[in-house]
Amino acid sequence: MSQQKQKSQIIDDEDPVTPWIKGSFQAARGVRDILPNEQKFWQFARQAAEEIARIFGFRRIDVPTFENAALFDRSIGSQTDIIAKELYLISGKDEIETTDKLLALRPEFTAGIARAYIENGLQFWPQPIKLFTIGSVFRHEKPQKGRYREHFQIDFEILGDDSAKADAWIILSCWELLTVLGIKNIEIQINSLGNAESQEKYRKKLKSYYKPLLTKLCSTCLERYEKNILRILDCKEVSCIKHKENAPTTIDNLNDASKKHFMAVLNFLDSFNVAYSLNPYIVRGLDYYTHTAFEILVSNAKEDKDQLKGAHHQLAIGGGGRYDDLMKQIGGNATCGVGVALGLDRLVEIMKKQKVQVKHQSHTEIFVSGIGARALTRAKNLVLDLLRAGFATEFAPDKPSFRSQLKTANKLEANYTIIIGEREAHDNTCIIRDMKSGIQEDVSCDELVSILNERLR
Ligand code: HAM
Repeated sequence: MSQQKQKSQIIDDEDPVTPWIKGSFQAARGVRDILPNEQKFWQFARQAAEEIARIFGFRRIDVPTFENAALFDRSIGSQTDIIAKELYLISGKDEIETTDKLLALRPEFTAGIARAYIENGLQFWPQPIKLFTIGSVFRHEKPQKGRYREHFQIDFEILGDDSAKADAWIILSCWELLTVLGIKNIEIQINSLGNAESQEKYRKKLKSYYKPLLTKLCSTCLERYEKNILRILDCKEVSCIKHKENAPTTIDNLNDASKKHFMAVLNFLDSFNVAYSLNPYIVRGLDYYTHTAFEILVSNAKEDKDQLKGAHHQLAIGGGGRYDDLMKQIGGNATCGVGVALGLDRLVEIMKKQKVQVKHQSHTEIFVSGIGARALTRAKNLVLDLLRAGFATEFAPDKPSFRSQLKTANKLEANYTIIIGEREAHDNTCIIRDMKSGIQEDVSCDELVSILNERLR
């Protein structure tokens, strides 16, 4: 992506595009700055996620940005793209002596949260535990629109609950969050990979299906055939996608317990009025899934729909599922889990594309104007009082006239301007000017904070 194109993506439509001078340094490939004029979308999405977390009972957890690389290897799977190609290994000082001490930037949250659950004895807290986090994750991917080397995720996890309700609760939380964000054309595609026994049976069937097709598969899939056959279904090569259509499906190979769980999840989703479609080929790009696996897509245009047929990962704004064997795989007691991560970068891009109206957050609530020496001293005191009362307040003592100060207030999009002239300074009064209507009124300075509280809070 050219520097010009990358920059133009993050300029708010409302802001004028001004030419800039490039300095000696540019952001590293695949990462970007999120400038103040774009923050209103991010803030809106983060606040909505926090509110959804609150009402659905998820408690905040923060886990480290880096972990032992072996944790990701063991949980996500050494044959997945995320581990085999995209993991950022950190070359520290003493940590790089042995492989098991290698550190890596987190490529997702689930593994770190599972590690934290075991390490901090969360299994001894009342179960289930619902956790939520937001932060950046790192994957060394080929940069393109919607695919960054540092991206942000909103993550929800339910640990210690094997019920179908937990799976549905995770999906419902996302559904509600996307609704609050005003995102339209949501498509939830769901599948079941079944429990370990079902997966074993399915792997065997898949091997027999692909055996006569080996000469037609890409070189990576030949390796996948030997090491992790499920990954073939995740391949984005046209030659491999073609053969996927007739491959056996996971759903047709579920044992009774897995079928029962999946049917119960769908039942809950029906009761919650969550629209979904079955996609029997969703296997997800991470190895830890058992039972439910799903992806959340947004279809906007024809070209998106075309992409959906093959590489639907391109468009996913979220994905998740159940991972009942993960805790054991990383050395903990057997504990069930189910979760989801939504890509915040993609959510913001969709919100902008779908022209979701996000209230413009005016930075300045109150502008204080004081003309004349005595008025200026009074204005300075008032500024401090208003800042301490919690109002975003500005003033411009260097502007010589009332006209130029009002111009500044307009530029800052202040809600109110407090005007103090010589008379007001003498009387301990001020004029409140509503910047939208232009209506002005005289008030006593002693009442100012409570009047502003009534109007702005
Ligand atoms: P994931 O599908 O790998 O799942 O990532 C979740 C979401 O992160 C994707 O649907 C996408 O929106 C976003 N995303 C992924 N890669 C990028 C990228 N390079 N640039 C921008 N956005 C991206 C997980 O990470 C699992 N941990 C989800 C989960 C939670 N499963 C159970 N619990």
